[in-house]
Formats: sequence, C-alpha cells, structure tokens
Amino acid sequence: MSKNDTVTLTDNATGKQVELPILRPTCGSPTIDISSLPKELGYFTYDPGFVATASCHSNITYLDGAKGVLEYRGYPIEQLAEKSSFIEVCYLLFHGDLPDKDQLDEFDDIITTHTMLHEAVKRFYSGFRRDAHPMATMVGVVGALSAFYHHGEDIHDPKHRMITAHRLIAKMPTIAAWSYRYTNGQPMVYPKNSLSFSANFLHMMFSMPTEEYTPDPLFVKALDLLLILHADHEQNASTSTVRLAGSSGANPFAALSAGIASLWGPAHGGANEAVIRMLQDIVDSDNDVAHYVARAKDKSDRFRLMGFGHRVYKNFDPRAVIIRKTCMNLLAELGTNNKYQALFDTAVELEKIALSDEYFVSRNLYPNVDFYSGIILLAMGIPLNMFTVIFAMARTVGWISHWNEMIEDDDFRIGRPRQLYLGAETREYVDIDKR
Ligand code: CMC
Repeated sequence: MSKNDTVTLTDNATGKQVELPILRPTCGSPTIDISSLPKELGYFTYDPGFVATASCHSNITYLDGAKGVLEYRGYPIEQLAEKSSFIEVCYLLFHGDLPDKDQLDEFDDIITTHTMLHEAVKRFYSGFRRDAHPMATMVGVVGALSAFYHHGEDIHDPKHRMITAHRLIAKMPTIAAWSYRYTNGQPMVYPKNSLSFSANFLHMMFSMPTEEYTPDPLFVKALDLLLILHADHEQNASTSTVRLAGSSGANPFAALSAGIASLWGPAHGGANEAVIRMLQDIVDSDNDVAHYVARAKDKSDRFRLMGFGHRVYKNFDPRAVIIRKTCMNLLAELGTNNKYQALFDTAVELEKIALSDEYFVSRNLYPNVDFYSGIILLAMGIPLNMFTVIFAMARTVGWISHWNEMIEDDDFRIGRPRQLYLGAETREYVDIDKR
C-alpha cells in the first residue's frame, strides 16, 4: 500500500499514529477504512445520522449528490425512465444486468404467477380497524408473511433468496391494494395475470366485481414510471433498516417489514403524503405561499417545506425533474379544468420562491422525489394515505436486492454500531425504602 493510499491519524495525547487505508470506489468519494481504529488507538468514531460513514460496500445504485446523478447498476435514471419498464428495472436491480428478451419474458412470467396471497393472509385484514393507516396494515401483513415462508427457507441458498425476492416483488401490490379495499369495505380483488405489473395494481385497487374495468393506459404508464424512480436509492434509512434487521439472519419478510416501518416516517417516504397536505393548506389559505416559506425558515417553528431537501442531493434531485415534467404532461392530458392543477400551480410557485430565497439556496434545499409525485397519484385517483404504500411497493425490489447482496458478501456479519455513552457512572443499587 503506497503512502497515497492511506491517511495517517495521530493521537495528539500519546503521539501514537495509525495508517488507515483509503478505499477507492468505482465512482464517488474515497472512503477511509477505520475498522482497525479501536484495536490500534482504542477509539471509536462518532457520526450521528451516518453523515460521513459508509456502512457497507455495494454494487447496486450510485448517487452523486453534487451533480444530481442517480444510476441503477450503472444505468442513468433518465434513460431507464424513458426506455425501461418497472419489471425490467426489478430484474436489473436484483440480477445486476439488463435482461435479454427471453430472460425478461421469463422474469415477467415468474412475477406474474407469484402475485396471489395465501388465502389465510386475507383473514389478517379483518383484524385491523377499518380506519387503520394502510402503512400500518402493510407493516403487519408483510411481517406476517414470515409465518408462511419460514420453515425450510435457507437464506444462505441463493436460489431460496431469489424465490423470496420474486415473492416479495410480486405480492406487494396485492398486499397494498387489499389494504385499501379493506378500509373501504370493498371486496378484495384477485390479481389478473393478463395485465402488466402496474395495470394489475390499478385493477386490484379500482375494479368492481359488478363492472368491467380497463386501467387507463395513461395512468398505467405514469405509475410504472413512478415505480422505476422509487425502486432504489442506495443506503437510505429504510434500506439500511432492512440490512440491519436482516444482518442477524432474521426472516427476510420480517426484515422487509422493518424497512416499511422506517419508510413510513415523514422525513422519508411519508413525505409524499405530507406534501399534498401542505399544498392543500396553502391553496385553502388563498395561496399565501410566502407565509409557508416564512414558517419553514423560522427555527422556532417545527414546520418544514415537505418535499424539499435531501441528505445526499445538494444540487437537484434527478427524480424530481422527471416527475415534475410527467406531472405537467399528465395534467395537460386531463384537461385544464382538472382539480389538481391548482396544487401543481402552487407547487411550482413554492418552488420558484424557495429557490430564490437565501435560506434555501445557502442550504442547498431543492425539491425532492416527493414534491410532485403526490399530484400524479392524486390525479390517478389514489387516496393520500396510499402514497407511501406505493413507494414501499416500488422500493421492495431495492430492499430485497440489498438484503441479497449483503448475505452473499464475504464481509457479511451482524450490524452492530457502537455508541458514545454519556450516562451515569457505576453506582451502587439503593434499596427502595432508602431512596
Ligand atoms: N424546510 C426547511 N428547512 C429545511 C428543510 C425543509 N424541508 N430541510 C432541511 N432544512 C434545513 C434544516 O433546518 C437545517 O438548517 P440549519 O442548518 O439552519 O440547522 C439544514 O436545512 C439541514 O437540514 P438537516 O435536517 O440537517 O438535513 P438532513 O440531511 O438531516 O435531512 C431531510 C434531510 C430530507 C430529512 C430534510 O431535508 C427534510 O426534513 N425534508 C423534508 C421532508 C422530506 O421532504 N423528506 C423526503 C426526503 S426524499 C425521499 C425519501 O428519502 O424518502
């Protein structure tokens, strides 16, 4: 190892030095391997929120936050959004390369024939309150699948892992749609094998046993695009949760359920729902955009501009650019009198004001993937509380691909962060009558 491939760390108290190797990625920032620190110098490192820490190495997705780059397995998101389909992106993320025609047909066929749920799973739904948030239902039902796929499952067998991935990708739309149907007191609609992945989801959401239903091709296309854009995003909170939960060797359905719980939060996937609530409040307040911008800047107010800002993107979120354009085109197709135009116009105005405001400019806060996606979903007839569920449906392939990668990694070991303990020093137990 040459001197240029290391960083020398000196402990000023003792003068002791340690050479830490620099790991060079295919793309992106070099990374210092600090794993020898505790042994060499007796130190841990402190990095709340993992701002500067790579928790693993990965071959799946690459982000360059400064340049607004997102690539799945090396393919730019703009190209995938324009030319690919969600099912092809699932193959790409899980297997690592684009499929040829036969591979794609076979994969599509496998996913299509795994969409049914065990009939007993249907009964789980009736245990939930009718007004349960569908994300709560999803956490429960996906976790419950571990009771159906556990015995005989060997996570160290690549074939078993692949079947698990097929099951999860395929069953998630059924689980998602059924949580909506249950809330509405409507019959659960079974998947239809003649339909594409996205068309089938709309069919399970909206068709009635009493009538013929043909999913609107415009909506099918828009949904497929949203699924592509949400399919993976390297080591975000929910993916890291799946990795950590799965690192103990836990059942993958249970690990995915932990990921869904993490995604639900408004700082993560729950933001798409929060954006629409915020935009609607602004519209209802006679478009007092300036008031909301002022609130977002006021440090004594917990309010934030939802759909703004990102831990990694410090220039623009490439997904937001694509979604904004799609949203604009979709609303134009629906005609100028549609009721979502007001939300879109408000979003555009908010973006304009925020992007010329010193507070947002100096902090590199830009619209993220969630800023415009909700308007598309609303226009498709998807209710607000299903937005994050659809995000989870899309991200499932990312989660399971990372879980798979983690298990086949030679460095695979249980995830176990350290801590900086600031609690009480050792003290003697005092009997209750003497406290
Ligand atoms: N509105 C107002 N101020 C903001 C916002 C916002 N949306 N986002 C960040 N800031 C400020 C924050 O107050 C802080 O200011 P200061 O330096 O004065 O203390 C500075 O910008 C840095 O913010 P941070 O919270 O330290 O940044 P982070 O990387 O920890 O958080 C974030 C990233 C996405 C959680 C945050 O920007 C946020 O809460 N955004 C709103 C929620 C949202 O849209 N989430 C979706 C994220 S993208 C999709 C996904 O991951 O699922």
